[in-house]
Parts: sequence; structure tokens; C-alpha cells
Amino acid sequence: MSHPEIESVLHEDRVFEPPTEFASKARIKSLDEYNQLYEKAKANPEQFWAELAESELHWFKKWDTVLDWQPPFAKWFVGGKINISYNCLDRHLSTERRDKTALIWEGEPGDSCTFTYAELHAEVCQFANALKQLGVGKGDVVGIYMPMIPEAAIALLACARIGAPHTVVFGGFSAEALRDRLVDGKAKAVITADGGFRKDKAVPLKVAVDKALENDGAPTVEKVLVVQRTKEAVTMVPDRDYWWHELQPTLSTECEAEQMDSEDMLFILYTSGSTGKPKGVVHTTGGYNLYTHMTTQWIFDIQDDDVYWCGADVGWITGHSYIVYGPLSNGATVLMYEGAPRPSKPDCFWELIAKYKVSIFYTAPTAIRAFIKMGDHLPQKHDLSSLRLLGTVGEPINPEAWMWYHRVIGNEKCPIVDTWWQTETGGVMITALPGAIATKPGSATKPFPGILADIVDHDGNPVGENEGGFLVIRYPWPSMMRTVYGDPNRFRRTYWEHIPPKDGEYVYFAGDGARRDEDGYFWVMGRVDDVINVSGHRLGSMEIESALVSHPAVAEAAVVGRPDDLKGEDIFAFITLEGEYEASDELKVELKKHVTGEIGAIARPGDIRFSDALPKTRSGKIMRRLLRSLAAGQEVSGDTSTLEDRSVLDKLREGA
Ligand code: WT7
Repeated sequence: MSHPEIESVLHEDRVFEPPTEFASKARIKSLDEYNQLYEKAKANPEQFWAELAESELHWFKKWDTVLDWQPPFAKWFVGGKINISYNCLDRHLSTERRDKTALIWEGEPGDSCTFTYAELHAEVCQFANALKQLGVGKGDVVGIYMPMIPEAAIALLACARIGAPHTVVFGGFSAEALRDRLVDGKAKAVITADGGFRKDKAVPLKVAVDKALENDGAPTVEKVLVVQRTKEAVTMVPDRDYWWHELQPTLSTECEAEQMDSEDMLFILYTSGSTGKPKGVVHTTGGYNLYTHMTTQWIFDIQDDDVYWCGADVGWITGHSYIVYGPLSNGATVLMYEGAPRPSKPDCFWELIAKYKVSIFYTAPTAIRAFIKMGDHLPQKHDLSSLRLLGTVGEPINPEAWMWYHRVIGNEKCPIVDTWWQTETGGVMITALPGAIATKPGSATKPFPGILADIVDHDGNPVGENEGGFLVIRYPWPSMMRTVYGDPNRFRRTYWEHIPPKDGEYVYFAGDGARRDEDGYFWVMGRVDDVINVSGHRLGSMEIESALVSHPAVAEAAVVGRPDDLKGEDIFAFITLEGEYEASDELKVELKKHVTGEIGAIARPGDIRFSDALPKTRSGKIMRRLLRSLAAGQEVSGDTSTLEDRSVLDKLREGA
């Protein structure tokens, strides 16, 4: 049985074999090699991961048990002692990588700097010592609210070094959203900057931290460490706020890495779900280190002379796993960029690729669609011949965008890895290995070795070839999320009991619809829950609804995604007003501003429609399916018999 909301009309025959030259030098060189790895991992996942953990990572003490699986709670490498900051830095210092460039950073206004592994190690140690001096120690949660400057990566590594779990809040989130996350995570300290540069403007960050903390808003926060970036004026609160550049010269460049338990919490990262409150996704140390290390190595085919650039922000999981931890654990050279394409510099990405001879480039479909709109002449002005591998992440890529990426950016010679994964999975789950797996535009292709992916119906029964169903994972993997911070029942319910466990076999429910074709290729079609994917960013409809109803004019709100050429989806809000308020364009503007203040600009509705009533079932549940059709301007199809008041639909249509 296929799910009514999962349908795929896509038909795609184009197949691109791994280029021979690429495959001959790749980490994984052929389909046979992939198949062997896949079968080996499937036959004995514990042994597969244990061998890699042993050969690829440094452990202070080896584990006693590879996997302790008490569904749905997993522990990996139990009893092992490890530090991911050590694996990303210290262990390279005794090799020729010591003086290799670890980080190349380019600022938005055009300033830049680089760090060798030795320099990055010294800087991270000083930063860790600063945290210690502020009273932060093992187990203390640290909030990080930063622009895309080297200190963002350094802050992560410094926290990991002393065993203080970090919780990064994307710099585009509002003071409100920051406060909620600091409170939920019980953060003891916050690392921030005066501000950052975005699209030719300095945007403040420290004022948002001040606002989040005012009136004892996040009472657990004791100290704030502030990095100077924009040099705009900020207020420093005595005995709470400290400048990094004032502390740094006084601090030692040595700080021994804490020996962490493999299962000690490495970080919390909040992400939207189908209910109102963002979930704190918990990741731990050993398994996450191993999985991000291996996926970086095999999927991005990292070689010693590569210059690797992932265009994400450190505030998202992609930044955690594939700007910081995965690449540095492999000793790669990583490019980090503060800016973004903007009218004054529409070709800044291509300029950077040419300037630094970037060989591996990883971005999102929404960015690719924006590049297509800007025109081929922009990339064609620059020498992109250093590129040898391209990647995408965040949402399904439409085949024509894939073809453009392949032709215009990849010059028809670079393999493309379309990587499907989530904040919860910690690392990439379904993807091509570029030297081994032929690609089809729009398909993420095959599961990574050790990942048992499947497509099932509501009851957990596998669906047939090319039939739509729910994407699930049938066995634990090292970087899986361990729990929802402070709410293990929510973890159990949301991810492991959505598909009812059968005979004690639990399957992980990803929340995506997908199908598998006749060649075993996965085609991910998008969320099947009330999560909206705007430009590759995940937003819960209920979260935005809560923000809307916190405005005095709003009685009720229903938020859905509407297909959008550039963003993938845009946010469409249906609203009923409190009696004394009247619908107007000014009110629309005000409500959009209100959501920006409550959550951040990424959650601002693209469109708002006022209405007398919302379509509901007899039990009072808003029928978002109908609203999605209306928002997309489509005829409302499917069953409407459960609708309580059918005239509501007609009125909503008239309101268009
Ligand atoms: C959701 C996870 C982890 C990367 C950044 C987003 C969608 C992600 C793909 C892809 C189709 C994709 C899914 C997923 N998604 N990558 N290659 N093809 N869909 O992380 O914010 O946790 O969102 O992004 O819907 O569930 P996230």
C-alpha cells in the first residue's frame, strides 16, 4: 500500500557512470568494492564498525562492547575513551600534516586568513583554556551563537576538547529562539561575537544574546565569551561578559584533551519537528566521530591535496559534521566562507573556487537553483577546473538543477554526490560513493555501508518496487541521535514507535517519503509530516503557528508549505483574526515581522491569507492537506468527507 501523500511522477532515465579516471584514484574504486563493503557491514555491522574504529581513530582506551542496543537506545563503543578534538588536531601533529593548512577562511568583506594544523591546535587550546578560566568544565553545556568566522569552528573544537557539550544556535535565529534553546539546554555559558557580516551589512549578535539573557531570561547562563568581528559598539556586562581577544594573549597554547567516554554527550542541536517545541537532538562522542570520519573519507573521497569546501553554516548539522568534525578528523584542508552571493558580488562562490583551487564543493539545491537564475555567464567567467567532485544536501534536487550543476559547474567531468541525511542521523545515510556508484539525476542512490535503509507502509511492511512509502532505517548506526535532550519518551515516540515495532524489532522513522527503483536506487520525495523545508532549512509548521498566535491579532493560524521555484518550499500561513482586528496588508507585514522576531527571518511566511475559519475535522484537527492544495493553487482533491464545515473551503478559495 502506498501512502496517499507520497507520489512520484518523476521518470528519469539518465545514468552517469563514475568517470574512469576518477574511479581509478578513488577511495572506493568500483561497484564491486562498494557491494563487498555493503555486504560485509550487513553481515556483521559491529565487526565492520569496530575494525574501522580501530584503524581510523585514536582511542585513549579501547572499548569493551561495540554496540549495546536496548531499543530504541543505543550505545556505541561502550567503555572506550576518546576525544574528537584530539582526533581532529593532536594526532595530526606528529605527522607531515602538522604544517598542512587545516583551515582557509575568507571573510565577507574580503579579509582572509589560514591556519595550519599546528596553529589551529594552539588556537583551540587557548580557547579551551579561556572556557576553563570562565568556569566551564566537563559536562557543562555551552551555547554558541556565532557568525561564520574561524572562531566558530574553534569554539566547537574547544568545547569538545574539555568535554563541554556545545549547542550551536544558528546566527539567523532571533533572541527569543536563542533564549528557548539556552533554557532547554541549561547552558552555563555562551560564546558569541559582536556581530557578523551578511550581504554587505554588519549584523549584530551580541545584542541578541543580551536580550536573550535580560531579566534572567536564561538563568543558568553565567558567562559570555565575545569574539570581536565587526567592531560595532556593544555593551559588556561586568563579571559576565569577556572579550576573547583580551583573554587570548594571557592563555597557554597547550590544553590537554579530556579523556571522554565514548557515550559522553558531544553536542545538542535543536531541530524542528511536527510539534511546537524544537527538539534537542543529542549526539555523543565515539560513534559520531567514527561515522562522520568514514562518510567524509568515502563520500567526499578526501585525498591529501584536496581543498574541500562545504557552503553550509556551522549552525546546522551539515556544518558540524562536514565543515568541522569529519574533514578535520581526516586531516583535510577546509575552506570556510562568511559571505554569500549578493547583488554586489553575484559570482563570489566561483571567484573563491578559482582563488583557492577548491577541488570538492558541497552545497544545497536551493543555492544551485539561485545560481541557475543568475545565469551561466557568472561561473563561466572563472576557472573552475580545480573541481573534481560536487555534492548536494538538504532537499531533493530536481533533475534539471542536477544537470545544470553537472554541466556548468562540473564541466561534465565531476561526479555528483546527492547526500540524504538529517540532523538526527549525524552523518550521510544515502549517497553515491563517487568512484563506485553510477548516479541518476534526482536520486540519492544507495545506502552507505552499514546502513540498512528500507521503504515501508504504515505497518512497517516493505512496499514494492517503485511504490511510495516511508523511509526507515532498520539497524542502529554509530552516529544516530541518542535521545531528545531531557525527553527520552519523545525520542521513542517520534522516531522508533511511529512504525509499530514488530517482534522487538524497532525501525527508525525518518519522516520522509521515498521510493526505491528497479536498480535499488532511493528517490527521496520530501517530508511526510508537518515539517516545511525552506531552502534546505527545516521548520515545523506548529512552531510558526505558535509564533503567529502569540500576536494579539491572531486567533488561529495554520501554516503549510507551498512549492517554490527557488526555495523548494515557501511558508504560507492561513489566519483567523480576533474579533476587533481587521485584515489588511499592513497587518500582514506586521505579522511577518512578528515571526521574524519570535523565530528568525528564515521562518517568515512568504504569504498570509486571512480567513473567517480554518478547515477542520470533526475532532478539531486542522486539515493541512487541504490547505496545502489551496496554497499551491491546486484543486482540492482527495477525501473531504471528514471536514466539519464544507463551506469553509469555498470561503478560503474566494479569499484567494
Ligand atoms: C531533512 C533533514 C542533514 C542535511 C541538512 C538538512 C531533507 C536532506 C536530502 C537529500 C532529499 C533531503 C529530508 C530530511 N533532505 N538531504 N539529499 N534529498 N531530501 O538537515 O535540517 O535535519 O533536515 O532534509 O527531508 O528529512 P535537517
